[in-house]
Formats: sequence, C-alpha cells, structure tokens
Amino acid sequence: MVRKIPIARPMVSKQDVRVTSAVLRSRMLAQGSITAEFERKFAGYIGVNDAVALCNGTAALDAALKSVGITDGDEVATTAFSFIASANAILYQRARPVFVDIKRDTFDIDPDDLRAKISKRTKAVLGVHLFGQPFDVAEIQEICHDNHLLLIEDCAQAHGAEYEGKKVGGFGVGCFSFYPTKNMTTGEGGMLTTDGADVASFVRLIRDHGQSDKYCHTILGYNYRMTDVEAAMGIAQLGKLDSMNATRIRNAQYLNRHLDLEGMQVPRPARGTMHVYNQYVVALRRDTIDRERFASYLAANGIGSAIHYPMPIYQQPLYKRLGYSKEAAHCPVAEETARSVLSLPVHPALTPDELGYVVSVINGFGGPS
Ligand SMILES: Cc1ncc(COP(=O)(O)O)c(C=O)c1O
Repeated sequence: MVRKIPIARPMVSKQDVRVTSAVLRSRMLAQGSITAEFERKFAGYIGVNDAVALCNGTAALDAALKSVGITDGDEVATTAFSFIASANAILYQRARPVFVDIKRDTFDIDPDDLRAKISKRTKAVLGVHLFGQPFDVAEIQEICHDNHLLLIEDCAQAHGAEYEGKKVGGFGVGCFSFYPTKNMTTGEGGMLTTDGADVASFVRLIRDHGQSDKYCHTILGYNYRMTDVEAAMGIAQLGKLDSMNATRIRNAQYLNRHLDLEGMQVPRPARGTMHVYNQYVVALRRDTIDRERFASYLAANGIGSAIHYPMPIYQQPLYKRLGYSKEAAHCPVAEETARSVLSLPVHPALTPDELGYVVSVINGFGGPS
C-alpha cells in the first residue's frame, strides 16, 4: 500500500469540534466574550500584559507597524528570507523594506548584516522567528537599543518558542498567525502581543473600523476582527500547544538522530533557544543531492516536502517591479539557502511508524545522476 505522509496535517480534536459547535449553537458568531477570553489566555501564555486577536497574521503585522507609527518613507529592516507577508506589511505603510541577509545555520536574520544596513531613515526592525527557531534576540535588541529602533517580532511560525527561557512575542510587539499549517490553528486568525497599553488600545481601535463608541469612528480603521467561533477553537488549541510542540520537538530529534544522508544538513536549535519546528528544514549540498530529483523521489514514495522559500523576497516579481535587485539587496546566504532548502514532515500527527518510514526512505536515496 502506498503511504501518504503530507508535509502538514492540522490537529483537529473532538474538543475543537465540540467547542466550536457550542458557539455555532449559541448564534453569537462574531467577536465577543470568547475572543476576550482567548486574548487573556494567550497573553498569560506568552507572559505579556495584553494580546489582541485579529483575523489573520498579516493583519497582526500591519496593525503592529501602524501601532508603532511606521509611515511614508520610513525604512524597516527585515529578513530577506521569509514568507512574503513579513515584508508586504511594511509596504502597506508606504514604508521601505530593507532586506537583511540570514545566518547559514539558523536561517534567521543576521545581526552583522543588520548593523551594516541601518540608515538614518531606519525606524524599526521586523525580525522573523523562522520555522520556529528564535532569532538572536539579545543581539537584535542591543542593535535596536543602540539605534533607537522599535522591534516587531513575526512569530507566525513560533508559538511557544523560547529564547533564554522567555517566550517569543514578549520581546517586542509580537505577531502570530493561526493558519492551519501553524503550531496551533483557528482556521484563519492572528494575535498581537504587547506590554504596551497604548499599542493594545490602538490596535483594538483599528481592528474595528476605528470605532471608539457605537457608530463613532475616530480614526481610519479596518475590519480585522476575529470571530468567537475561531476564538473558541483558539482556546482549545492553546490548551494543547505545549504537548503538540513537545511532539514536534521529539519528531525533529528523532529525524536528527536517524537521518544519515551525505550532503544533508539537519536543523539544530541555536544555543539558549527552544525551537518549536513549525518546519523541519534541511539544507542540501548542491554538488551531492539534486533537490528536484530528491523531492520527486520522496513524492513517489508518498512523502510530502516543500520549498520554504524558493527565492529571497526581493526576487519576487512584485519586489523586482518596485526596483529591488539582487545586487543592491546583497544577501548571498539567503540566495544560496533558497536554492538548497527542503522542508520535510515533522508535524505532531506523524506516527512513530511514519517517522521510521520517512527515515528509511530518505536514507535509501541514491544521490545524483
Ligand atoms: C513568517 C510568516 N509571517 C506572516 C504570515 C502571515 O500569516 P497569515 O497567513 O495568518 O496572514 C505567515 C503565514 O503564513 C508566515 O509564515
């Protein structure tokens, strides 16, 4: 029998079905008291004063940048290697993303290149805890402090990840996504975390059309609200997040211990961090393993894989049209990484038998030709 092991499989439990059905039966579907409860619980989990639920992670990034006053002509330094939403949120402000290269071992923003790319117009750093691996928080915070920059953390792939024992999303303004492939899901959904009362109240205002009182709209806002159906699922998922993360970590450790293919670099958590493996991303030496052939071999054996991400953001057609170029951006590590990475299944729905199968298929790969 041919197996089917997808790259992601959301964990939807009977409890998720029960709690969302209860909201549906109540007929109170839009944002209400359950969203407020989810916000309180999420803030408590991350260890911040406040959390604001939003309709998705992109809205959280947009709201975060607006809340710290990023505007026309500002520069925001961000990683060249992420999902496009990280940089697009900067464009939404008519601000300019300045792309920073990444570190070869963690795929996260490189503090040395960040230092080199700060200008007088730089107002903020938008760092991404990519694949569940926290970036170098202490160094990035120091750079922000020395240059009077605000810190936005894109935690879309890092729910529960820790840096020196503290959860990400508690160092700057945190932005989470609850898309189905994430470590916890509400279908679509997002959350902004902050210790700043001003940031939280501003985001609550713009999330609801700038409405300060019933039909009194004081600023330009949006409909960025989460529904209570999503929030009910969020509360249930949050209760399981630590155990789902523990399974991801165990699966990654198993793969690290057993994968034995020449030319494959497996992901190791950086010192002082808890990596939560939203993705398990290997780097393939191009002279040893042909990525396309390897991915086709996995697919033929029923194993899903994906390329996160096939190019640095500045090489996307949209960014080329905006005048970005390879030469000006100068992120050689991001470019090489985009050509060599492959994500393999690590999600918590994998059985021990499936994990063993993934290892035996990979270790049996024949190499180039
Ligand atoms: C790194 C990163 N940032 C931002 C987002 C945007 O989140 P959403 O899809 O919930 O808008 C995602 C998710 O896809 C992501 O992976």
